[in-house]
Amino acid sequence: MKCLFFLTVFGILGYLMNSVFYTWLPTNYIFDPKTLNEICNTVLATHNSSSPDFSTEALLRDVRDGLAAHYGDEYINKYIEEEWVFNNAGGAMGQMIILHASVTEYVILFGSAVGNEGHTGVHFADDYFTILHGFQYAALPNATLPEVYAPGMTHHLKKGYAKQYAMSQGAFALELAQGWIPCMLPFGFLDTFSSTLDLYTLYRTVYLTGRDMIKNLIVNRKF
Ligand SMILES: *[C@@H]1O[C@H](CO)[C@@H](O)[C@H](O)[C@H]1NC(C)=O
Ligand SMILES: *[C@@H]1O[C@H](CO)[C@@H](O)[C@H](O)[C@H]1NC(C)=O
Repeated sequence: MKCLFFLTVFGILGYLMNSVFYTWLPTNYIFDPKTLNEICNTVLATHNSSSPDFSTEALLRDVRDGLAAHYGDEYINKYIEEEWVFNNAGGAMGQMIILHASVTEYVILFGSAVGNEGHTGVHFADDYFTILHGFQYAALPNATLPEVYAPGMTHHLKKGYAKQYAMSQGAFALELAQGWIPCMLPFGFLDTFSSTLDLYTLYRTVYLTGRDMIKNLIVNRKF
């Protein structure tokens, strides 16, 4: 009886959340994938990855500054080296720094110095992954050849779809997710309990995400 009640509540909640996904939810968005792609390409044009002076960190810092110049410092966190955290999800391990997190959107720098491979997860959100350095490979279950994303290209993982993906050694990207972000969080957290037991990383991730969501909600009035 109780079980049936909860199933009904979840069903109705899911139905309502889905029915506003392409109507009301986007009215809260401040980012759009096309502008982010343009900002990334403008910054990429000022860095030469074949040059011996090339630095991925300098590139990532410039992308952060390009976003802050366009959207305002209040919406884009500072690039603070200590705020990089590990992320284990879908069998893939990576590194990320949160530039913006709210209930409906997040923008992060994500990548892996070592390289990685895993499951993208199935999300209640659209995900746009703009490559800044290195390559990302991705495939739907019916593909026999990978999709290949190079610097400057944006990979759109549609809401509800899953792919296998891999990133080459030293690959980094700017990731935008738009949708019901709290629904994505268990994917990012649960490996702590089933696998890594890295409670420090979990604590840092929850703290940094929560801090930004609350700041955007209260200070910026941004849902
Ligand atoms: C990038 O750097 C490489 C190696 O130094 C050089 O050969 C190439 O001309 C540079 N490309 C541009 C567009 O400056
Ligand atoms: C593979 O699956 C995707 C997603 O379900 C579909 O859109 C696409 O048409 C499929 N491709 C082929 C070759 O069947």
